[in-house]
Amino acid sequence: MMVQGKVNIFRFDREHDIKPRYEKFDFPFESGMTILDVLIYVRDHCDNTLSFSYCCRNRHCGLCGVVANGVPCLACHEAAEQELTIEPLDKQTVVRDLIIDQSVYNSRVEKLRLFLCRENIDGVVLPEYINVEDFEQIKVASRCVECKCCDAACPLNRADSHFLGPSGFVLLARHFFDPRDELDRNYLLKNGQIEQCVHCGRCSNVCPHNVDPEGVISRLQECR
Ligand code: SF4
Ligand code: SF4
Ligand code: FES
Repeated sequence: MMVQGKVNIFRFDREHDIKPRYEKFDFPFESGMTILDVLIYVRDHCDNTLSFSYCCRNRHCGLCGVVANGVPCLACHEAAEQELTIEPLDKQTVVRDLIIDQSVYNSRVEKLRLFLCRENIDGVVLPEYINVEDFEQIKVASRCVECKCCDAACPLNRADSHFLGPSGFVLLARHFFDPRDELDRNYLLKNGQIEQCVHCGRCSNVCPHNVDPEGVISRLQECR
C-alpha cells in the first residue's frame, strides 16, 4: 500500500513576491527516497515552477544544499522523512524558492587567492615531496564540495558579517597547509576573523563529507 508523505516547501520569487510563503504538497513516500527525489516529484507532478538546484545526484557537485526539517543537508544524499519542511540554505538571499544568491559567498571566496602562490621554482625537482602530515591536512580540506551546509549551520555566518564562514576557512586550509605555497595567508585568516569562531561544532555536524570544518579551524588557529 502506498504511503502518503507531506512536504511543506518555502516559496519566494524575489522578482515578484513581497514576502515568502510555504506551500504544502503530497508525495508517494518510499523508504530509501531522498529529499531530492521528493523535490523532483513535486516539480514533475504538482508544480513545475518549483525551483531548486542539482546536478550530479551523487554528493559531488555541492549544488543541492537545502535545510530539511531544520537541518542543512545535501538533498541528493539525505533520506526523506514522511513529513518534511524544506527551506533554502539562507532565507535572506533567496533568488527563487530554494535557490540562493551566491554573490556574497563568491565575493568572499575570490579574495582568498585559492591557487598555489610561489615565485621561485628554480631547482624544484618534480615530483615534489610533501610530507604525510601536510598531505593529510590538504586531503581532508580538499574533500569539500562547497555545498555551504556548514555556513548555513554556523551562528556567526551572516551576509553582513566579516566572518569568513566555515567553508571559507576550509578552502583556505587547502593552501595554508600546502608547504609549496609561499603566500603568508595569516592576513587572510585575520581578515576572515577566525578568532570569532566559538567552536560550537555545528558546522562539523552537518558536513556531508566529514571535512570537520571546526577541526580545520582549530588546526589553522594552532598553526598561525
Ligand atoms: S566543509 Fe563540508 S559542509 Fe562545508 S562546504 Fe565543504 S563539504 Fe559542504
Ligand atoms: S565551530 Fe565555528 S565555524 Fe563552526 S559553526 Fe561553530 S562558530 Fe561557526
Ligand atoms: S546533486 Fe550534486 S551534490 Fe547533490
